[in-house]
Amino acid sequence: SLPSVFNGSLDLGIIGGTGLYHLDCLEPIAVLPPMETPWGTTSSSITISKFKGNSSSHLHVAFIARHGLNHEYPPTRIPFRANMAALKHLKCKGVLSFSAVGSLQQHIKPRDFVLPQQIIDRTKGIRESSYFNDTGLVGHVMFGNPFSSSFASYIYNNFKSTLTNEESDEPCLLHYNKDLTVVCMEGPQFSTRAESKMYRLLGGDVINMSVLPEAKLARECELPYQMICMSTDYDAWKDDEEPVTVEQVIGNLTNNGQNANKLASNIINKMANELPEFLVNGDGLKGSIKMSISTK
Ligand code: ADE
Repeated sequence: SLPSVFNGSLDLGIIGGTGLYHLDCLEPIAVLPPMETPWGTTSSSITISKFKGNSSSHLHVAFIARHGLNHEYPPTRIPFRANMAALKHLKCKGVLSFSAVGSLQQHIKPRDFVLPQQIIDRTKGIRESSYFNDTGLVGHVMFGNPFSSSFASYIYNNFKSTLTNEESDEPCLLHYNKDLTVVCMEGPQFSTRAESKMYRLLGGDVINMSVLPEAKLARECELPYQMICMSTDYDAWKDDEEPVTVEQVIGNLTNNGQNANKLASNIINKMANELPEFLVNGDGLKGSIKMSISTK
């Protein structure tokens, strides 16, 4: 149940990825212990906060650390269903998620951010990716557009020049177009050079290990969902460079964490002044699941 200090529905759920375990702009009003759900326990406690900078705002945000607060869950073992169910239970109106990614394209530099609109599934089918398994129901859910383009364009149009680079004068870019594609692989090992080149041929722009099944579950919960991908490396496709190392990834995570905080702060500040239409009206997803389920 919801904490007594908080008495309504939440506006936004935020899922933090590698290198992002809290957001500076949020003032916690309650920390819920990891939530037990019919699909397991969430990967972290859930912090319910309001925006620090605007005392008159009623905007409430729930934050979950996808990998746990001590990074104890590898991508394969993240309780994705519990995490999304908890955000739905708290009546979040949409979900913004952050994820470290490798870049499959020269023009997407490490430390750039990407708002993908498409996904290629290269997980191994071992992750529980639906709430309908074992229920006796069959749910065929529309997933042609796995992200919320309203959410992505809201972020891009308002905040495309927000990112900064601590190490160089070259600014970090925020990339967005309707075809930007994130490949989701199983891991935990990174790709081979041959696989990395194959993903480029398939049309991949960035690669991670965590957008699935998260995006599918958000859709089954009828929640508008957008991931902000934070590039940490060029993956393994470059013949003239060593394949990605863990050190490289960690080195860029700090800069990305700062930019994620800045970007989230701007987004939440704007939402605190006025809740965007796609959160108010559910971005066309409300009731869509009803039409997707068949029973025996
Ligand atoms: N996360 C960060 N960098 C990655 C890469 N190169 N491949 C898969 N996941 C990643």
